[in-house]
Amino acid sequence: MVERYFQFLGLDGTVDLLKANEIPLAPSIRVNTLKISPLDLRQRLEIKGFKFEPIKWIPYGFKVLKESYNLGSSHEFLQGYYYLQNAASMLSAVILDPKPTDTVIDMCAAPGSKSTHLSQLMANEGTLILIDRNKNRIPALEINLRRLGVMNSIVLNMDAIKLSKLNIKVDKILLDAPCTGEGLIRQDPLRKRSKKKADIEKMALIQRKLLNAGLNALKPGGTLLYCTCSIAPEENELVVNDILKNLKKFKIIDISKKYGVKGLTKVFGMKLLEDLHFSQRLYPHIHDTIGFYFCLIKKV
Ligand SMILES: C[S@@+](CC[C@H](N)C(=O)[O-])C[C@H]1O[C@@H](n2cnc3c(N)ncnc32)[C@H](O)[C@@H]1O
Repeated sequence: MVERYFQFLGLDGTVDLLKANEIPLAPSIRVNTLKISPLDLRQRLEIKGFKFEPIKWIPYGFKVLKESYNLGSSHEFLQGYYYLQNAASMLSAVILDPKPTDTVIDMCAAPGSKSTHLSQLMANEGTLILIDRNKNRIPALEINLRRLGVMNSIVLNMDAIKLSKLNIKVDKILLDAPCTGEGLIRQDPLRKRSKKKADIEKMALIQRKLLNAGLNALKPGGTLLYCTCSIAPEENELVVNDILKNLKKFKIIDISKKYGVKGLTKVFGMKLLEDLHFSQRLYPHIHDTIGFYFCLIKKV
């Protein structure tokens, strides 16, 4: 893993990343504005001894500075007033920017961190189609939808690679692809050793199939956000590069705000599509988040 990091982060970047991976991530919450305003929730929790700091990217997202008891067991949590979610994950729905009139697919939805956020941005209107292949993860998704008061969604337990079976074209698609989770080491140190090169290759194959299926389900003018909680180029830029290099009708679009650093256009001795510099990477040592990747693709 470290040898691969040298190739796109250099020596200093790799050392900084490894050091940052040793610092546990502070918890953060996303206020569910379908149910309560950020101001009201903050006041309610601060009376109970919690302390928060705003996340600069998300007006309803807060870093937790002091947790007077477990944030997953407060009345406000059980009432669905907030979701425990890291800042990098919150950016996915923000970047995709779904509207209340849109039809949106979340291709890999469970347990619903990003799905519930999509619904929030859609003001609980429009249509939100939530897919996950793993039947065992559907109950967690449904519980979160119910807790947060999401009313505009339908849940489908199916393989999103077979999306064309639904025979629909939609405005927006979130593809939060299954991945090795190489960006999650700050949250889960066991991932330092648990993933092998073969795991990356296996995921990269599935990711290509999912991306291809997602792009085929977009309306002209529609957008798909490809994202992963991995910093491995093989699961990110190389996947997008392989799928888009032979397709004329799609382009990588510049994400309107600069959250991360530019995506890679050269790596492991390969030259990739130049427009991949419009995609963005988040790193623990630069952005104090988990490692994450976003690429926004439009059907022209
Ligand atoms: C990174 S997790 C998704 C996390 C979710 N988006 C969230 O924010 O809570 C990846 C998910 O993809 C699902 N998955 C893997 N392969 C899939 C496929 N072929 N079709 C649909 N879902 C799939 C897994 O079951 C898993 O729940």
